[in-house]
Amino acid sequence: MHGTISMARDERQKAAREKAYSTPLSEFHPGAPELFRSDTLWPYFERLRKEEPVHYCTTCPVGDYWSVTKYNDIMHVDTNAAIFSSDVKLGGISLRDVTDDYSWPSFIAMDEPKHGPQRKTVSPMFTPVHLDRLAILIRERAADILDNLPRNETFNWVDRVSVELTTQMLATLFDFPWEDRRKLTRWSDLATALPKSGIYDSEEQRLRELGECADYFTRLWNERVNAEPRSDLISMMAHSDATRHMNRDELLGNLILLIVGGNDTTRNSMTGSVLALNENPDQYDKLRDNHALIDSFVPEVIRWQTPLAHMRRTALQDTELGGKLIKKGDRVVMWYVSGNRDGEVIENPDSFIIDRARPRTHMSFGFGIHRCVGMRLADLQLKIIWEEILKRFDNIEVVGEPKRVYSSFVKGYEELPVRINA
Ligand code: HEM
Repeated sequence: MHGTISMARDERQKAAREKAYSTPLSEFHPGAPELFRSDTLWPYFERLRKEEPVHYCTTCPVGDYWSVTKYNDIMHVDTNAAIFSSDVKLGGISLRDVTDDYSWPSFIAMDEPKHGPQRKTVSPMFTPVHLDRLAILIRERAADILDNLPRNETFNWVDRVSVELTTQMLATLFDFPWEDRRKLTRWSDLATALPKSGIYDSEEQRLRELGECADYFTRLWNERVNAEPRSDLISMMAHSDATRHMNRDELLGNLILLIVGGNDTTRNSMTGSVLALNENPDQYDKLRDNHALIDSFVPEVIRWQTPLAHMRRTALQDTELGGKLIKKGDRVVMWYVSGNRDGEVIENPDSFIIDRARPRTHMSFGFGIHRCVGMRLADLQLKIIWEEILKRFDNIEVVGEPKRVYSSFVKGYEELPVRINA
């Protein structure tokens, strides 16, 4: 990676560290999206893990919240769904409450008994047998995308590779009209964007476009509900007792869940993988020398990136955690991004090491009843793209600063300038 880029990064991190250690903990708001956009979140979470692992923030513009920052405490919250609810009516699964005009229910933001049957409806998509079939398609498409990349000129890896490959995958999962597939990317971006992100100009515009998404999918649903069952996600939902009678809001909610789940997360891991290797050239050398390391490299990238920085719950009763009393109704944020750097569970957590002994110890897919249903597909996509990259290119060089997403929920990139020298 370019020397001046890494020097600028080191300076920024140094200044962030000084600020994080001189600000009183009572003023901490670790979920501020700016910390994620500027990649200066790390010392704030490091200090919380050391000094106040369960922390109450009273300075957040969208409301007070608890931060849970250590691996085992996060695990405790994630695996106790009877105490910590995901229900959209209580605010949902991200720090920012879901508002009334945006309360599309989906099974990630649902408790039992409704959650389980809806999750089961889509889980056949991710069985090993079905994934073996998808692998063939993924490989063909990855090869095509890589073969058509420019040589000896700078281009945006996010758009040319990460977005394109994950969007193609999503179109396949939904059996979505191929020529319209970039609409899926747009809907995914809209669904997760914050007001100041620059993704949309007004709330009206956002709701109008998401309404178009609902109309589009309703049309596909109506075509498939009366046809023979097929193995795409829309047909699976249209033919299952748990989801057949969903109203328009529920349909939109579950579709957005699957679009965002399958899109942003994998996309940002793919971009993160190129960045991580450039920031750690010794690891890039290791991978070039031994392609078999892809198997442990993939989970390490997913830990290092943590594409969803947090999940939020709402306490259903008073409960104690880390010596603090959490009250019924309080927001509780599980910072996976911090749990993944907890040195008590993960050795050398701040280093990117592609041949770790237990690389799958990470928290990026969550735990408990909501543990990511698509995680095997995510692993598979990353594995295949890297197998194909290593066959073709000796080096994908990052030649400028990444542009990061303004969000403390989706942790990712808008741009990563790279160059492939032929
Ligand atoms: C749930 C992360 C890829 C679909 C989740 C959760 C996380 C997560 C953190 C919530 C876990 C919890 O609350 O305990 C990721 C990451 C991915 C990824 C980091 C890629 C690297 C995918 C893919 C799909 C997908 C490819 C499918 C197309 C879902 C769905 C849920 C979910 C449907 C909700 C599960 C439930 O509520 O039962 N994911 N995900 N994800 N993910 Fe993923």
